[in-house]
Amino acid sequence: MHAPAQQPSASIRLSDYRAPAWRVGTVELDFDLGIDASEVLARLRLHRDPAQDAPLRLDGENLQLLSIVLDGSRLPATAYRYAGNVLEVDGARDGSVLETRVRLRPAANTALEGLYLSGSREAGFLLTQCEAEGFRHITFFPDRPDVLSSYTVTLRADRARFPVLLAGGNSDGAGELEGGRHWARFVDPHPKPSYLFALVAGRLERIERDYVTAEGRAVQLKIWAEADAIGRCHYAMDALERSMRWDEQTYGRNYDLDVFHVVATHDFNMGAMENKGLNIFNAKCLLAEPDSTTDDEYRHVEAVVAHEYFHNWSGNRVTCRDWFQLSLKEGLTVFREQSFSADMNSAPLKRIEDVALLRRAQFPEDAGPLAHPVRPAQYSEINNFYTATVYEKGAELVRMLAGALGRDGFRCGMDRYFERNDGRAATLEDFLGALGETNGTDLTPYLAWYAQAGTPRLKAHGHYDPTRHAYTLTLTQHTPGGHGAEPRPPLPIPVKLALFTRHGDMLPLHLDGQTSKGGNELVVVLTQVEQNFVFTNVAAAPVPSLLRGFSAPVILECDYTPDELALLLAHDVDGFNRWEAGQQLAARAYEDLRDGTTATALQAWCDALAKLFDNAAIDDALLADLLTPPGEVELAERETAIDPQRIHHLRQTLQQRLAARLGAVALRQRYMALAAHTNTELDAPSQARRRLKRRVLELLALLDTAGACALAATQYRDAPGMTDRLAALSVLVRSDAPQAAAALRDYRARHAGNALALDKWFAVQAQLPGELALDRVRLLEHDAAFMLKNPNRVQSLLGAFVRNNPSGFHRVDGAGYRLLAERLVALDALNPQVAARLATAFNGWQRLEPLRCEAARAVIVELAGHRGLSRNLAEIIGSVLNH
Ligand code: TRP
Ligand code: ZN
Repeated sequence: MHAPAQQPSASIRLSDYRAPAWRVGTVELDFDLGIDASEVLARLRLHRDPAQDAPLRLDGENLQLLSIVLDGSRLPATAYRYAGNVLEVDGARDGSVLETRVRLRPAANTALEGLYLSGSREAGFLLTQCEAEGFRHITFFPDRPDVLSSYTVTLRADRARFPVLLAGGNSDGAGELEGGRHWARFVDPHPKPSYLFALVAGRLERIERDYVTAEGRAVQLKIWAEADAIGRCHYAMDALERSMRWDEQTYGRNYDLDVFHVVATHDFNMGAMENKGLNIFNAKCLLAEPDSTTDDEYRHVEAVVAHEYFHNWSGNRVTCRDWFQLSLKEGLTVFREQSFSADMNSAPLKRIEDVALLRRAQFPEDAGPLAHPVRPAQYSEINNFYTATVYEKGAELVRMLAGALGRDGFRCGMDRYFERNDGRAATLEDFLGALGETNGTDLTPYLAWYAQAGTPRLKAHGHYDPTRHAYTLTLTQHTPGGHGAEPRPPLPIPVKLALFTRHGDMLPLHLDGQTSKGGNELVVVLTQVEQNFVFTNVAAAPVPSLLRGFSAPVILECDYTPDELALLLAHDVDGFNRWEAGQQLAARAYEDLRDGTTATALQAWCDALAKLFDNAAIDDALLADLLTPPGEVELAERETAIDPQRIHHLRQTLQQRLAARLGAVALRQRYMALAAHTNTELDAPSQARRRLKRRVLELLALLDTAGACALAATQYRDAPGMTDRLAALSVLVRSDAPQAAAALRDYRARHAGNALALDKWFAVQAQLPGELALDRVRLLEHDAAFMLKNPNRVQSLLGAFVRNNPSGFHRVDGAGYRLLAERLVALDALNPQVAARLATAFNGWQRLEPLRCEAARAVIVELAGHRGLSRNLAEIIGSVLNH
């Protein structure tokens, strides 16, 4: 389809990279903290690159400069210029010390970047967010990740208002000051880039745990939260300890400071941030307790805690040379986090969850105007590149590399990578180089994956020759997109495979030309555009199970018959591929319904699932996933003129057919059996039962709505925890049941004081399907608890509406698009990062059916013409429109 935008504003290019002309060896920061005004004194020891002859230029945005001193002398106004977010200083030499003093306005900072206030003026606390370029909102600095410095930070503030003072690094003293004030100092012995700086100050409570690393270092783990939330931090503490042990055991990585702080805030632009020694979390990724946290959220908390902790090595000790290398830390850390979660929970379920996310979020991104390579070549606003492509596709690329090297080879390569790049700002070449060299392999062909956008298509075709007992698998690759002259080189695509007999048994594999016998599963790597793989000693035409475990992030096109897919769904021992066969079959069944063709696939899908439904050997959670067809976004990806409301309707019909095949009696019986266990335990079988119970109730609601809603109302009332309560509420709301209003009122009252629980109350209603949604969203915007200033609340109402509710958002009259555009303008004035992320909901409008397409186009064109949009939002709107 399309290459990334050649925006006039896309001014920053990978090919323009130059090493910094000036570095900062040591930084001393003195903060005088206050809600309305804070002052920052920065003392920088500067080092000049002798090979370069550039004047000293420091980044600084919206800073009120109070004074500037170079090597002890206050500079006259003629000796420096501050314009266009750059401070240029005359007369600096190698070894010079520059001191600047600036004033900040934390309470007025609604962008939540730099130093800002979380919560109210009276009760809230101060904190910082610096990645990617927030440090320049705090002080003048070469704010780029390849400038690594040693930090000494002193905080001063009123003791009563700010009893807790934290910054990254080890504690280096604290004490009293006159006038009820106090101070605290922190020294970080590990040089770091400015984006990893952080401080927190305010009234916070803490829980603590002593930890001893495998190397014998005693570490204090401290989790901080406001008084009403501190009781919900225990699960995160356990998850942190598990993460630390896992990184020691799996990668030999130990923690490296005396203290590790974690802080929860309700006002945060993303999930969490890995600041050195002082991780800061969006409360929704940290707080957990049975009464207000679902099973999925528990697993998310565990994963995010691990993710941020793992950054201490993959990101902090080894950081990125420039922001084009972002996936060096993010893709790698997501991969590490996924492996950890797979070890802590069920590996096949985790894989299903991750691939489903990739397809829902990354594939559409990669197929539309916002497509970009995992390592982009240019950007206008770096914050717009914290994408599913950089994170999720990036993780898939690391997974392929890990697969290519094998477990031990990958570990050796990672050891080499960490060792060789410790304390450095590295590139993806450094990463692939270390992995490859240790293993005597050249991994550079994989760099092509990092350089091109678009999801590759892999075509598979099998041919059986009964006379030779040979099975030939022909694999062909093609990546759509690329504009004009840009060639698309073939990519290395590892395909893990097995062959099944028609009875569902796996065959021993004899790959022609390969001496070692393969067992019954092996990986072939497609390196050309097209290649044949010949298997011998095959007694009869087999059914191939391809891309097992999703061994490469591609779209597989294989000419299976419905019966072959049903065979894999029934017999594949690879949990992921079993699910995948069901997904493929469900998609065919969907097409049967859509096109009114013979219902062979629909039959096969329903029959296969009916058998599995009665199979006691299958895990409840896997069964729940098998009983779920591909989502509406995924189904839309297969269409050219998308009508999201029709897709919703067809998908409902598809599930209705499945429910009918299973039968109301069997569904109800199964529900009752599952409902007999009620607890809030987090062990795998308990979680699995709740997951299946929800799915069964949802299916029953499509068959016997009144009956299912009666069960849901009871489940809502008696639910011992949030998983069951929210599942029941969701069934009632989506069925538009008479009991829904009372349940919503009850929930509202019950969780009135809990922001995270209230978010779910907004989100569940924003996902009301079809025409009902828009009015409900409008109504909820007038709720006293709705606020544009809080990213979580925006996400829970507007985000859930535009992103998770295609049939509600994509109204044929365009009213959904108009609502989004209006809110984007208001939101952009407060928080450009959040506005830009919400605006990506316009991605893919070109492929809507003509009426919706035109309605969307008109709205986006008008929005693009709006004056005063932030660079963040302007870049997204511009990209979405220009293609
Ligand atoms: N680096 C963070 C992570 O772990 C994400 C992040 C990037 C972030 N920019 C941010 C978090 C801005 C909060 C605000 O993935
Ligand atoms: Zn990260």
